[in-house]
Amino acid sequence: MENIGETVTILAVETSCDETAAAVVVNGREVLSNVISSQIDLHTLYGGVVPEIASRKHIEKINQVMAEALAQAGKGLSDMDAVAVTYGPGLVGALLVGVSAAKAVSFASGIPLIGVHHIEGHISANYIENRDLEPPFVCLVVSGGHSHLVVVKDYGEYEILGRTRDDAAGEAFDKVARAIGLGYPGGPKIDKVSREGNPESIAFPRAKVGDSDYDFSFSGLKSAVLNYLNSCEMKGEPFSQADVAASFQKAVVDVLVEHSMHAVESSGLKKFAIAGGVASNSALREALAGACEERGVTFYHPSPLLCTDNAAMIGAAGYYEYVKGVRHGYDLNAVPNLKLGQDMKSC
Ligand code: KG4
Ligand code: ZN
Repeated sequence: MENIGETVTILAVETSCDETAAAVVVNGREVLSNVISSQIDLHTLYGGVVPEIASRKHIEKINQVMAEALAQAGKGLSDMDAVAVTYGPGLVGALLVGVSAAKAVSFASGIPLIGVHHIEGHISANYIENRDLEPPFVCLVVSGGHSHLVVVKDYGEYEILGRTRDDAAGEAFDKVARAIGLGYPGGPKIDKVSREGNPESIAFPRAKVGDSDYDFSFSGLKSAVLNYLNSCEMKGEPFSQADVAASFQKAVVDVLVEHSMHAVESSGLKKFAIAGGVASNSALREALAGACEERGVTFYHPSPLLCTDNAAMIGAAGYYEYVKGVRHGYDLNAVPNLKLGQDMKSC
């Protein structure tokens, strides 16, 4: 580790999907500002994120959002020790806006540039509100594009135990929400309407992936929901949106909890964290809290604002990269399918 002085203040930038975000973070854990300009209303018109619109909106907003993050923190660029930016995975055109903006800031102000993996950002969101959390711990990452079960062995060091074989958990929430007429974004809507429904009313499958204890598969569950809706239509019977939502949600939660607790038990670790947009799901949080308590495991979770895409989490992950001496050159590029544990040189 480098001798880095007492405080490291990082300007962090995130534009991998449909939020234009910038934050100022001190020593990876203290958030001075966390500005998020969401494009959700715009994409709702089309039922999902339209990549071309996302890129264009990021270009319009990025300078304003970075300036606002600095202003809210009461800092100028000259107070920053580094600029950290998400460079993958995500939508290539969207990522490029953040990467280009961060390069420009780095070049103009002479501060180092640090490329951050988006999923590492999600995991690192846990450090912000849990000042005592340190690796090693088990982490379930469930977002719109990813479902991973990992052991965080050290800062920036991961062992991937399992991943989804098909749809990500959030993607399944979004597709099922669309099918039952809830619209976009599906996750929060299913979460809400499920509270009115009976989670035991429809027996949707809990998929097992034959050769892996930890991998997930959600496309079969999604098909089972679509088949159920079709059969209701054929019989001319109405379906209950709340019951379908609650039963689907329960099927996802059961599988996520079972695999997570299996990972916790076989790792012998007593710390478990969740991350990503789906980690804000209330049924999942409640089930995991209970399962961890039964096993004497401490359960860590970011608040909902830090579960979904934001730049504070990129500042947290960027800090630990900075401490390790990671510095990127101006050849840093957007890598839309960047894998966890992969760095730019191995892409
Ligand atoms: O992490 P995130 O903001 O973006 C990605 O990196 O993908 O995750 C977005 C995903 C969407 O699929 C959204 O429907 C889902 O997270 N999500 C939820 C909830 N809030 C957001 N899923 C279930 N329950 C929620 N409360
Ligand atoms: Zn994300």
